[in-house]
Amino acid sequence: MQVIIFDDAEQVAEHAAQWVSELVENKTNPVLGLATGSTPISLYKKLVERHNEQGLSFKNVSSFNLDEYHNIDPANPQSYRSFMNDNLFSHVDIDVANTHLPTCTSEQNPREQGLNYEQAIKDAGGIDLQILGIGANGHIGFNEPTSSLVSKTRIKTLTEQTIKDNSRLFKADEHQPDMAMTMGIGTIMDSRYVLLMATGENKADAVNDMVTGALSAMCPASALQMHENAIVILDKAAASKLEDKGYYQWADKQNNKLNQQYGLYHNY
Ligand code: F6R
Repeated sequence: MQVIIFDDAEQVAEHAAQWVSELVENKTNPVLGLATGSTPISLYKKLVERHNEQGLSFKNVSSFNLDEYHNIDPANPQSYRSFMNDNLFSHVDIDVANTHLPTCTSEQNPREQGLNYEQAIKDAGGIDLQILGIGANGHIGFNEPTSSLVSKTRIKTLTEQTIKDNSRLFKADEHQPDMAMTMGIGTIMDSRYVLLMATGENKADAVNDMVTGALSAMCPASALQMHENAIVILDKAAASKLEDKGYYQWADKQNNKLNQQYGLYHNY
């Protein structure tokens, strides 16, 4: 796991945008794994800026989102489809037909929908770069604590904490779903690269558990310790509980030197 600590959230977003741009510019049919939530909004802003100002094109990109609420109308402003349209898809030249979310209506069988989503990812060639946020309880996607570390796309019941954390996004009289379809931890682990963004003090404990805690279903993000290419990018607040900050900063400098000497090597 490579841990990179930046001064602020702005620099985290800039670094993430750099990763996405490099993939999109250099691979013929890049496949992105995308996340919703507050953290990646600044990344999507930067990608839209790069599209408008530098001609970064998403024409050949396919995307797979981590999760979507169960039985939600895609047109509902609370759906993750709406979130992605509003924050990214409607502002760049991506072909919406190539953008996927793990949807499931009440008429559909969630087990079949999960299998179909896994197959669609395989058919697209697998995810090259998965963008992740992290929940205050260590969840990735909607894989809440005790999720199987090898799980695949499926329906999950959200924990009270996640419902509470997300309630800020719902009006008092608005129905807040308590189930969601989510990629599994195993699905995320199959991505070639994983880029986890975390900002703010409220993520500091989860980040510490993920990076230095035991590999445990109680902290789903700790599974990334077993990923060959997991990059964790943090602002100072999210890194505040890590003991070995000096080492991560030193290792990052060394990596930059290696990159300068030998060039960036991403095996997509
Ligand atoms: C979003 C997702 C979640 C979020 C996590 C952090 O698609 O799957 O795991 O990444 O809850 O959310 P924010 O960024 O709002 O703190």
